[in-house]
Amino acid sequence: MSDVQYLIDDAARQLLFTEARTANTFTSEPVSDEQIAAVYDLVRFGPTTMNTQPLRIVLARSDDARARVLGHLLPGNKAKAESAPLVAVCAVDLNFHDHLVDTFPHFAGARDVFADDAFRDRTARHQGWLQCGYLIVGLRSIGLASGPMLGYDAEGLDADLFAGTSLRSLMVMTIGRPGPDAWQERLPRLAYDEVVRTI
Ligand SMILES: Cc1cc2nc3c(=O)[nH]c(=O)nc-3n(C[C@H](O)[C@H](O)[C@H](O)COP(=O)(O)O)c2cc1C
Repeated sequence: MSDVQYLIDDAARQLLFTEARTANTFTSEPVSDEQIAAVYDLVRFGPTTMNTQPLRIVLARSDDARARVLGHLLPGNKAKAESAPLVAVCAVDLNFHDHLVDTFPHFAGARDVFADDAFRDRTARHQGWLQCGYLIVGLRSIGLASGPMLGYDAEGLDADLFAGTSLRSLMVMTIGRPGPDAWQERLPRLAYDEVVRTI
């Protein structure tokens, strides 16, 4: 007898993982601030090292902000993003350590752990990436699809949107309900034996 007992049902497994896809087109149905807030209320509980939580999510809702973000995408990505009801920039705050007095209060020296700029930058980015993963799954849980994009001019976008701030972009993310022909055939995933080994 198997000792695997899923604690979420088939439908939830499909919604979050097996049937979930990266969307390339979207319907025009808007994505509300309430929806994003509901997703954040879930994904903020995803773990990060020393509870650092460096991810910042910038919703480009104004015409100007949206045009600026799209202007930094590679042409193929720009075409995809144009159909998205919501375009977000997933960024990190390089000064995330300023919050540790509240978010890691039992360790007085927490902020000093990240005094070195290079180490803080590295930590912000890898922990921010981790949080992006939580975000993608969180969006799926309320029926939203996302299109994460690395095909953009990060330096240009950061200079345009985040000059003089401690924010740095990790990716651009389109968000909405999948539209017509939203995806091609599913690409193969590595098999268990290719990924997991026991030593
Ligand atoms: C971090 C990240 C960056 C990506 N960047 C791009 C991109 O710039 N342009 C694009 O068309 N797809 C991009 N993708 C989409 C991936 O190719 C896609 O998620 C992957 O092939 C799996 O597709 P599926 O979820 O439909 O199975 C990106 C995905 C991730 C997670």
